[in-house]
Amino acid sequence: MKEFDEYLAMVNNAISALKLPDNPKGLYDPIRYTMEAGGKRLRPVLTLAACDAMGKEPGTAIHQAIAIEMFHNFTLLHDDVMDNADVRRGRPTVHKKWDEETAILSGDAMLTTSTMLLAIKSGEHLASALDLFNGTAMNIYEGQQFDMDFEKRMDVTVEEYMEMIRLKTSVLLGCACGMGALMADAPFETQLQFFNYGVNLGLAFQLQDDYLDTYGNPETFGKTIGGDILNDKKTWLLIMALQEDETGKLKEVIGSDISADEKISTVREIYNSLNLPDRIHELIRAYIDTAISCLDHIGLMPEARAFFIDLALKSATRNK
Ligand code: IPE
Ligand code: IPE
Ligand code: MG
Ligand code: MG
Ligand code: MG
Repeated sequence: MKEFDEYLAMVNNAISALKLPDNPKGLYDPIRYTMEAGGKRLRPVLTLAACDAMGKEPGTAIHQAIAIEMFHNFTLLHDDVMDNADVRRGRPTVHKKWDEETAILSGDAMLTTSTMLLAIKSGEHLASALDLFNGTAMNIYEGQQFDMDFEKRMDVTVEEYMEMIRLKTSVLLGCACGMGALMADAPFETQLQFFNYGVNLGLAFQLQDDYLDTYGNPETFGKTIGGDILNDKKTWLLIMALQEDETGKLKEVIGSDISADEKISTVREIYNSLNLPDRIHELIRAYIDTAISCLDHIGLMPEARAFFIDLALKSATRNK
């Protein structure tokens, strides 16, 4: 096994080596702008590490790894339009720097590029890789639709929320892990256990993303703080607060036209009064523990096991 940063370097090198056409600039410049902006590259690193853990050269899965990263970045272009988000990775979002038409079309081109990358050197695994990838993509669109529908509802349950984040976020981490195992010729049962590890990691990951959207440091997080509150996103925090706030203040604030700053600070105070920051971290820790327990079902060498445990523990306390 390698270190996280060594897999990261492999991913970054492969992304730098991508040959995108120059013209039309309006289509390809936003793709370059997005792909060069970095981000944590968690998903492609998971793919390479899973492949390595199953005894194959990690480079075997490099095209599938960057396909998944390209796909992830495509979802971000469209997500930022849907969420009306101005900042990502500390820079203006594509629809702000260019316009919404650009975010839609460059996003479409990234989606197609990702399927082209997925096929490269996939050999006998092409059909299985496409099945896994396309099934995951459909789940993500479903999750994104629930996410938007929930903005307008006040009675969303925790169970509905957990299913929504499983779809919009977690399955892609599952797919990233499963894809690495598939490319390493691992048995289907092992691919499935890797997928389950990724899904549970993904649930913790999205819970932490929601926490950081309210409590993060904009410098490190790279996104505008409070966007979820302003969009009435039914995060775990908001759902719990809606159930537990007995003062009626929260419902009043959500329906009112107070300033953005006041809305964010009032909602945050209600979250604090209910001890939700500590409680969400207990929940995150429970999903991390479940993710780690999935590793028991995979015959991993100690070094590989330690890599996936360490990665899970770190992502539970990440600040970016
Ligand atoms: C952002 O994903 C979208 C979510 C699923 C929360 P990341 O937090 O992995 O974003 P980057 O790629 O590191 O910027
Ligand atoms: C991310 O949800 C899910 C997808 C992009 C598919 P968010 O809307 O919370 O992601 P961020 O916070 O904008 O990165
Ligand atoms: Mg969103
Ligand atoms: Mg968003
Ligand atoms: Mg978010």
